[in-house]
Amino acid sequence: MNTILYNPAQIVTVNTNKKNCKRGSEQNEIGILTDHSILISDSKIAKIFPTENINGIDFEEKIDLTNKIVLPGLVECHTHSVFAGSRSAEFNKRLNGKSYEEIARSGGGINSTVKSVRESSFEELLNISKPRIDNFMKQCVTTLEIKSGYGLSFYDEIKLLEVINELNTIYPINIIPTFLGAHTFPPEYLNDKDKYVDIIIEEMLPFIAEKNLAKSCDGFCESTAFSTKQMEKIFTKAKDLKFDLKLHTDQFNSIGGLDLALDFGANSVDHLEVLKDEKTERFSDSDTVAVLLPGVSFSLKYEYAPARKLLENDAIIALATDFNPGSSHINNISLIWGLASFNMQMTLEEIISSYTINSAKALGLSESVGSIEEGKNADFAVFNTSNYTDLLYNFGNNLAEMTVKNGRII
Ligand code: NIG
Ligand code: FE
Repeated sequence: MNTILYNPAQIVTVNTNKKNCKRGSEQNEIGILTDHSILISDSKIAKIFPTENINGIDFEEKIDLTNKIVLPGLVECHTHSVFAGSRSAEFNKRLNGKSYEEIARSGGGINSTVKSVRESSFEELLNISKPRIDNFMKQCVTTLEIKSGYGLSFYDEIKLLEVINELNTIYPINIIPTFLGAHTFPPEYLNDKDKYVDIIIEEMLPFIAEKNLAKSCDGFCESTAFSTKQMEKIFTKAKDLKFDLKLHTDQFNSIGGLDLALDFGANSVDHLEVLKDEKTERFSDSDTVAVLLPGVSFSLKYEYAPARKLLENDAIIALATDFNPGSSHINNISLIWGLASFNMQMTLEEIISSYTINSAKALGLSESVGSIEEGKNADFAVFNTSNYTDLLYNFGNNLAEMTVKNGRII
């Protein structure tokens, strides 16, 4: 079946000339085409051609995009979208001056969501999560990463990963599961933390690898969570088992997680709110993506990751919501773009690269998605405007008009 996306006002290709990522100043080059259309064949991008040449093209279906713009389908590369319960009381405590870390130390935070998840069945978790997936799809997300990390026992981590895998079979978008058993220590192991690390290494990781329940292994390297030594043990095993690696690091304290993850060749290091300027140089020749999460800084009234310093040092930057019940209860992508622009001084063009090709790279998927280039999956975001600059100008409004996954309107 051949379909044409006909006559959009602009195609924002995010062209990489097959490099499949953008670093530093390249993030500003988003390859805008006018007077072009796109031929989709068998769910792949077959050709991008001047619209006036349409007579020479064979097709069965034409989707008229006159006065609309097309971007690559958005890639949301860091979320914790499968969770139960609410942390709004805790959120309100924060509004009254308590810090996120204080709340975590007094038994709230991640472990309060763990309690709710353990009390929820597979079916309950599946049903709570569905509207969240719909919400991302309505914002033109065609690839969505979701982490476990609120089970923290063999049974409950597997339950979460099974829910995420089930969502992937139900929805037409790609839902990518990440194992985050090393999110924090569950209450029953607070006095024997290394025992919990052993359970991750000896029980969880081998089972997840065998059943193919997750693509990546993630962790939280922080003074209130996992030490670099503990993360090193987990990464060593995960790498042996062929998991891709990711790490939540340098969120509140720099305790060495960054160097560890870069040395292990992780796909991404995420957060980096307290990343030291001199450390940004490590990204110049690294393929590890710096995933920045401005919704967390905004929600926690906290500092923002040094996006400009990273870009000056030729880093590959991606952006994501980090949608979760605690540190960033934000699933609005337009809001994230606004925060990246207003509070991290990123340009709109850099933001677009960060939400497409570079977030695809953070998931190890940039060879197949993240830019409008021939041969890639026919995943598109269509917005109801004729100029991409309206995407930030209309900050807070969702201009999404149509989400196209593998060549089909969803
Ligand atoms: O990405 N940093 C740790 N983990 C999550 C927060 C999870 C939560 O508060 O429930 C994050 O910010
Ligand atoms: Fe996170």
